[in-house]
Amino acid sequence: MRRLLLLTIFCLSLLVGCGGDKKSGGNSESQLDPNTDAGRGEQVFKTHCATCHAIKGDRVVVGPSLEGIATRASTRIEGLSAEDYIRESIIYPNNFTVPDFVEGMMQQNFANQLTSDDVNYLVAYLMTLD
Ligand code: HEC
Repeated sequence: MRRLLLLTIFCLSLLVGCGGDKKSGGNSESQLDPNTDAGRGEQVFKTHCATCHAIKGDRVVVGPSLEGIATRASTRIEGLSAEDYIRESIIYPNNFTVPDFVEGMMQQNFANQLTSDDVNYLVAYLMTLD
């Protein structure tokens, strides 16, 4: 009897787990090959950035949605390529503050938290968000 109860609870939690995944709107589903730089970047993004940034639509979580960042990035600071702008945004987030946002809200210590490989992967990943 006890085993049956445990089994029921186990099955229920599986069901709930699946339902939750579907509701997250695709953000948690990886579309990129995890063996490419962009695919690795997607994983780093999920760990360190997705708490504050959506990647689709205009939704503001804490920071702006990064949909279209690959195109927008090259227009942010004159003379800075899209890749360089994204890199700077991660390492020196206060060099440019997105209009309507407050300086200092983006996490400040990624230069110490992430390896240079992580940052390269992130740049490759964000360049796929056009
Ligand atoms: C604590 C919340 C927070 C976290 C975590 C965070 N960001 Fe941000 N991010 C922000 C905010 C707020 C802004 C807008 C203010 C600014 O420009 O500093 C921003 C701005 C940006 C921009 C500039 C967007 C534009 O339109 O120019 C990029 C690119 C970016 N973040 C990438 C990242 C990446 C990559 C990570 C993970 C390594 C990350 N952010 C983690 C809050 C966050």
